[in-house]
Amino acid sequence: MSPADARYRRVIAVDGPAASGKGTLARRLAAHYGLPYLDTGLLYRMVARAVIDDGHDIRDADHAAAAVAALDGRSFPEEALRGREIGEAASVVAAMPAVRAGLIERQRRFAAQPGGAVLDGRDIGTVICPQAGAKLFVTATPEVRAARRHRELTGRGEPATFDAILADIRRRDARDSGRSDAPLKAAEDAVLLDTSALTIDEVLAAAIAIVEARRAG
Ligand code: DC
Repeated sequence: MSPADARYRRVIAVDGPAASGKGTLARRLAAHYGLPYLDTGLLYRMVARAVIDDGHDIRDADHAAAAVAALDGRSFPEEALRGREIGEAASVVAAMPAVRAGLIERQRRFAAQPGGAVLDGRDIGTVICPQAGAKLFVTATPEVRAARRHRELTGRGEPATFDAILADIRRRDARDSGRSDAPLKAAEDAVLLDTSALTIDEVLAAAIAIVEARRAG
């Protein structure tokens, strides 16, 4: 292992599709291990928000790349990033190679903190931190994910039918998995964690066991 690899040994990479429960799990893992946490989906959501707020078409790759370059000078309230349509828009800009390239370094800098870090996303274990000491790939059936997202959105007062959310999730899965640059897929050395039939406490316990086994091995 080279010295550069050693910096990422204590990174926990949590990847998976939309609404798989990876964000909740990653947050809980970070609290358990006392590590800093980065929700990398928020970076893509910020880029999408900036493009939309500036009045550009979300498919405009030049403006999306410019939004990445200007990201440090902007801030967005959390509620402007969490809505249903901004997740969809984030998935569109996330397929653009210039957007992905422009976001790599800040993610790696975060991951290289002494003591480690937890990052969740789609390509943490494959592209951002292939040397991460522990990699989890969190899945659940599209129906279970749609039901969770439906509960979350209606809880926030954002109206949406279950069927519309399921269609969103299938479309996002297809786009995130089908793009040529850093598609959503499990790293070869990731451990798959299907959360369909598990409570969050059970998911956390399973994830901790996986991390401990990796660290011991
Ligand atoms: O995890 P999320 O739903 O907040 O992510 C929003 C979109 O951003 C997702 O559909 C794909 C993209 N994304 C990505 O391509 N790579 C990441 N590491 C994180 C998110």
